[in-house]
Amino acid sequence: MDSETDSAGADDLGHQSTMMRLKALKGITKSVVEGASRLSMEPTGVRQPRLFTLGEVEAITAVSPYKIKKLEEAGILEPTREQRGSVSARFFTSADIYAIRKEHDLLPQRPAGVPPCIMAISSLKGGAAKTTTAVYSAIGLALRGYRTALIDLDAQGSASSFFQLQAHKVEVHETAYPLITRDDSVLPAGDGRGVYDAINYLQGTTWSNLAVIPSALSMYPVEYQLPLDAQRYWIQQRRAATSGSEAPTAENPYYYFRRSLESMYDDYDVIILDCPPSMGAVTIAALAAANTLIIPQHAKMLDLDSTASFLEMLTELLEEYAEAFKIYSRIDHAALLVTDYQQEQGKSQSNLLNMINQMFNDFCLPTPFLHSQAVIDASKQFLTTFDVRPGDNPNQRRTYLRATSNIDQVVSDIEGAVQTYYKKRALSIGGQVK
Ligand SMILES: Nc1ncnc2c1ncn2[C@@H]1O[C@H](COP(=O)(O)OP(=O)(O)O)[C@@H](O)[C@H]1O
Ligand SMILES: [Mg+2]
Repeated sequence: MDSETDSAGADDLGHQSTMMRLKALKGITKSVVEGASRLSMEPTGVRQPRLFTLGEVEAITAVSPYKIKKLEEAGILEPTREQRGSVSARFFTSADIYAIRKEHDLLPQRPAGVPPCIMAISSLKGGAAKTTTAVYSAIGLALRGYRTALIDLDAQGSASSFFQLQAHKVEVHETAYPLITRDDSVLPAGDGRGVYDAINYLQGTTWSNLAVIPSALSMYPVEYQLPLDAQRYWIQQRRAATSGSEAPTAENPYYYFRRSLESMYDDYDVIILDCPPSMGAVTIAALAAANTLIIPQHAKMLDLDSTASFLEMLTELLEEYAEAFKIYSRIDHAALLVTDYQQEQGKSQSNLLNMINQMFNDFCLPTPFLHSQAVIDASKQFLTTFDVRPGDNPNQRRTYLRATSNIDQVVSDIEGAVQTYYKKRALSIGGQVK
């Protein structure tokens, strides 16, 4: 045996024992995660839809109680009744809110020919409040009448947990993994119709016009699968070009995901993508699909620096991919959103916020998402403040109301971004703008 094969053999043995150790570690970690999730406050049972009082419905829809009563009499709404002393109180669901908007012609309009707003929520930094922004925007827009979908693209699956879809229970074929990779080896046997159409992956939530595609750790292989497939695709393209024959695959793998969303164009107005905190393959596939980009970030120097790096990497990457791989992104509207903003932290914070607002101008949404104990308390049970009723915690009523009124403003700004995209795209295709 020469020394080269000898050392290759030693390497191989070393590699095998590494793999054995890692596999053992993986097994233990999995059991710990399963055990820990049983101990944690994982919600059990079926979550009930949030019930709204008549006053809340009036505030959300701006439709008068008299008109709401008329819809009840017509059998269009069927509120739940609860006897409170001598009065019978009525409670409405998000489906009732949607029906009220529909009956009174109050549903948001999308200009003809304009695809849904595909909004990537992305930044390099973990903890920038991407998931919080994605989840609150999704529920907030759904309550405003947008037919909304939230696609969890982070293998950690935090966004999914808010809809009772725990990442460790979600199967890989239920995630966006097959849509991004077209890897059919993970699909259950079936007739294969529409297997790469995102619309078939949506799961309902307790919010009537909000659906979700969950995520799971098993989605992670996208990060190496997609670049490998893209490389293969390019080699085939080049070979075909030099030999003058036809290339076997016509579609660039980085476009698979974008293509899968086309199945949702007729039935959805907004598709929110909760991205992982990296500039990997998933993020590139998301940015190739998105037409709107929201970058959440804290009002801190270090975070601003990270956003600057993110934008630098993003522009470089999009340029290089366009040139080398003919992957063109089409982002009509991009904006920063200041998140987890602590008003109490004094002048330096507010100075930085003012500077960000001035310098970024239209590129920064006007309302910062305020740091709030109400958001933290709700998230401990995988809930949002939308799920909590005002009377649930009488002691924290002020904190709750402060949070919900801020969140209402933040959602208005996000809705503004959706409308800006609609207008820009409508103008560019010569469509009508309302
Ligand atoms: N407005 C807020 N008030 C209080 N806590 C917040 C707020 N926004 C985010 N957080 C908390 O910050 C942490 C990180 O947020 P998350 O949305 O998961 O960030 P990312 O998705 O960017 O990693 C979470 O624990 C979340 O509950
Ligand atoms: Mg996240």
